[in-house]
Amino acid sequence: MDPKIKEVLDKSISLVESSQDPDKTYLEIFGKSGIFTALTAEIKNIEPANRAAFGRGLNSAKSQIEELLKKKKLSTFNSQLSTEFIDITAPGKKQKVGHLHLVSQAIKEIVAIFTKIGFSLQSYPEVDWDWYAFDSLNMPKNHPARDDFETFFVKSEKNPRYGQQVLTPHTSNGQVREMERVKPPIRMLNIARCYRRQIDISHTPMFHQFEGLYIDKNVSIPQLKGTFDFFTTNFFGPKRTTRLRPHHFRFTEPSFEVDVTCGVCQGRGCRLCKSGWLELGGAGMVHPNVLKAGGIDPNKYCGFAFGWGIERTIAMKTELPDIRLFYQNDLRFLEQF
Ligand code: DAH
Repeated sequence: MDPKIKEVLDKSISLVESSQDPDKTYLEIFGKSGIFTALTAEIKNIEPANRAAFGRGLNSAKSQIEELLKKKKLSTFNSQLSTEFIDITAPGKKQKVGHLHLVSQAIKEIVAIFTKIGFSLQSYPEVDWDWYAFDSLNMPKNHPARDDFETFFVKSEKNPRYGQQVLTPHTSNGQVREMERVKPPIRMLNIARCYRRQIDISHTPMFHQFEGLYIDKNVSIPQLKGTFDFFTTNFFGPKRTTRLRPHHFRFTEPSFEVDVTCGVCQGRGCRLCKSGWLELGGAGMVHPNVLKAGGIDPNKYCGFAFGWGIERTIAMKTELPDIRLFYQNDLRFLEQF
C-alpha cells in the first residue's frame, strides 16, 4: 500500500477509535476538508502508470474506515441507550387533527339536503360576463348593482354580445348558463364564491352564495315555500320555520325575501332579532325575460329561484356576531366548529 495512503488510514483508524461522536469524525475524514478527501486530491500528482494502483488503495482504505465507523456508531448508540432512561409508561403526545373550515362543512350539508329533493350541484365561471351576471337577468345598464362602487370589474376587452367581465357578485349568473346547458326540467344548485366591494360586521368582500333554480311546467309558489321549509328544518332544526315577505328583484316576479324564525327566541321576538324573524335571502318566480334570455318559452315553462349567503346562513344557525370572523383564520374561533 502506498505510504501516503497507509499514513491516512492509520490516522483515520485512531480518530475513529477515540471518537465520541462518529458523525463528526466522519466529517473530519471524508468531509470537505477531511484528511481522506485531501488524500484523494493527491491522485493527480501520481505517475500515470501508478494511478490505477493508487486508486485501488484509496478504495480499499475507504471501505475499511467506513466499516469501522459503522461499528463505532452502533456501539455509541447502544451505550447511550443503556444509560438513558426511557419512561415507557409516559402518556403519548396527542397529534392535532384538523377539520374542514365551517364554510366547507356547511356547503357539504347544504348539498346533501338539496340533493335529497333532486337538485344537482353545478359550477360556473367566477369571472363572468356582464351578460350572465346582469343583462340576462333583466337588470338594466343603470342598475345600482352595476356601479363599480358595488361590483369588481375586470379589465377586459368588451365583448359585443356579452359586455365586460366582472367578479360574480352573486350566483345568479348560473341561471341562464344552466338554461343554456340543459332543457327543462331543471333543478340546479349553484354554490360559488361571490365578490362585492363591501366590508363590515355582516359583509366580507368575498363570500359564498347558494342559488337554486327549478324550472318545469306548472311550478308554484307553494313548491317554493315547501322547498325552503324542507331546507330550514334539515339545516336549522325542526323548530325553525320560514316565511316569505314581498320584495323586489329584477329577475323574479313576484319576488320575496325569505325569513327564518330566530333560533334564540323561536320567533317570539328578542334583543337579537327584534321581530322574531331573521332575513335569509332572496327568492321568487323566475321572470319571463330571464327564461327568454335562456331560450326557454315562458308560455310553456315557469320556475322559481333563490339565492342565499352561506356565511349569513351559518351565522344564523350558530348566532355569530360578526361575519368577518370566518376569514381571519384565528384558530381559537375555527377550532370551535
Ligand atoms: N342574487 C340576489 C342577491 O345576490 C339573491 C337572489 C334573489 C337570488 C332572488 C335569486 C332570487 O335567485 O330569485 O342578492
